[in-house]
Amino acid sequence: MRSYRAFLDRAIRSPEAFWAEEAKLIEWQRPFSRVLDYSRPPFARWFVDGTTNLCHNAIDRHLAARAEQPALIYVSTEIDVEQTFTFRQLHQEVNRFAACLKGLGVVRGDRVLIYMPMVPEAVFAMLACARIGAIHSVVFGGFASLSLASRIDDAQPKLIVSADAGSRAGRIVPYKALLDEAIERSKAPPGSVLLVDRGLAPMRRLAGRDHDYAELRSRHLDAAVPCEWLEASEPSYILYTSGTTGQPKGVQRDTGGHAVALASSMGKIFCCNAGETYFATSDIGWVVGHSYIVYGPLLAGMATVLYEGTPVRPDGAILWRIVERHRVSVMFSAPTAIRVLKKQDPALLKRHDLSSLRLLFLAGEPLDEPTARWISEGLGKPVVDNYWQTETGWPILAIARGVEAIPAKFGSPGLPCYGYSVKLYDEHTGQEVGPNTKGVLAIEGPLPPGCMTTVWGDDERFVKTYWHSVPGRTVYSTFDWGIRDDDGYYFILGRTDDVINVAGHRLGTREIEESICSHPGIAEVAVVGVADQLKGQVAVAFAVVRDARAVELPQQRKNLEAEVMKQVDSQLGAVARPARVHFVTALPKTRSGKLLRRSVQAICEGRDPGDLTTIEDPTALEQIRSALVSA
Ligand code: PRX
Repeated sequence: MRSYRAFLDRAIRSPEAFWAEEAKLIEWQRPFSRVLDYSRPPFARWFVDGTTNLCHNAIDRHLAARAEQPALIYVSTEIDVEQTFTFRQLHQEVNRFAACLKGLGVVRGDRVLIYMPMVPEAVFAMLACARIGAIHSVVFGGFASLSLASRIDDAQPKLIVSADAGSRAGRIVPYKALLDEAIERSKAPPGSVLLVDRGLAPMRRLAGRDHDYAELRSRHLDAAVPCEWLEASEPSYILYTSGTTGQPKGVQRDTGGHAVALASSMGKIFCCNAGETYFATSDIGWVVGHSYIVYGPLLAGMATVLYEGTPVRPDGAILWRIVERHRVSVMFSAPTAIRVLKKQDPALLKRHDLSSLRLLFLAGEPLDEPTARWISEGLGKPVVDNYWQTETGWPILAIARGVEAIPAKFGSPGLPCYGYSVKLYDEHTGQEVGPNTKGVLAIEGPLPPGCMTTVWGDDERFVKTYWHSVPGRTVYSTFDWGIRDDDGYYFILGRTDDVINVAGHRLGTREIEESICSHPGIAEVAVVGVADQLKGQVAVAFAVVRDARAVELPQQRKNLEAEVMKQVDSQLGAVARPARVHFVTALPKTRSGKLLRRSVQAICEGRDPGDLTTIEDPTALEQIRSALVSA
């Protein structure tokens, strides 16, 4: 333990020496002249003047040693396909994709929006962007047209990559029609759309704008597109994530710091070796997909599994069948997926040969002890909780077992990861709190390599939102509550803001409220996250109708609830659909008009609503109570 703490101390005390050493894990075309420039806090520039390329480090550099080894293993239980691409084949496909992008006029610095199901072409597209220095912005396929339109407007992509359809639990999910709707809504329509036709759903094609990928690819079969050497701080990608406002933030990541942090984490946190196979069950539309389906494993010279399917189809042993078949060494999933499996026959955990598997990492939401024990004992493998965010791109808290496997504690993701100076502050006074006291979990600048460098196109929002929210301090707020025990282990106690976490999917209640409010029958609405045994949290809405007569009868309420849900489905996507919509005539607010969100949430969870001295109309809370009882 002492040596582990000394290692953490060194990373904080001598960041330049520490990260210069880690930077050797990747290949630089031109070496950096300085490890860190923090002359303009909170903006940190890592590996100043160094030039590199993510695609080169993820693919090209491995060709000498492992061209014929698997790099990308695509498994789809949706369309019953399995396809392996070696590093050589992946290199070829990415070159072809890059040639198509270039042919359509995409150049360094352009944004390319990727709205794709979990298919190999989505990974080719990301890596092709990295190759030519274009900035990708992947939008989760479960998001619908309004979510997509706001991201198009903000990123202003020159080109969008999409497909006819995805498939979820055996059901075809059309993408192209939603995309067309989003482009129609958007103020910054792209010049071109590149479409992968999977033959799953009919597509309307707009002449001049829409291009067929198979057709274009066939013209570039022998393409050799050189890597663009980017300065370390040039952006590699934008990934939108939810916050307190209805407008998602474009988390911008650099190139050099991103490559170094991920490569470093693969060894020091995930205990991986080149030539092995990594399997993250996430989606490329989320940060875990970016870091640990695509870039991390490939940077480490590993094969990565891209899985299109659910954990329970065709049966609850599918994940373990994949582990056995592809000799997976390390897995990454979310607690929700494990809770889903917990409902299945435990014998399914024993059906396959899991001798290749060493570790299972879980993140994205709190990992409860019963779930952790169940899966760890069932598999006979250590389970490693790790805590981080879209903003950081790699773990903030974890036990870095690749450094030393110090003991874990149930319910705790562990200690700060090397490079993160983690602190807990009192939300009102900004004073640091001691052990066993709840506080806002924050990080002192500079953030280590790999973390967000700014909000896309809005430096001011980056500074104001993240660095000025703890009173009297300039520290990065995670917007999570945390507590530290006497041994220095941290525990996460939920968000301090209006972000909720449904089945590991991060959603903003504001976005859901805005969508519901655009229904003509609804005047006002409050959406809160409510604890749920399976999904961690679900969204529950309390809506004030314009005309109370519209919800007098139970059938009317049922119909309106269904209508509202449908509206959220079509605007934001089914992931954002509230579990329930209750109708009330007033919302509990303070006399200054602020919604008493924490009180509403507390009532929904059967807890004490807390201090209500400032409430304007106490009957509004009564309405929440009775709506829940009569539901
Ligand atoms: O509230 C924390 C929760 O998920 C949020 C970040 O979500 P996202 O940006 O989607 O990134 C997920 C990356 C794994 C955090 O602010 N969270 C994430 N991991 C944990 C967690 N809560 C508790 N325990 C965790 N291990």
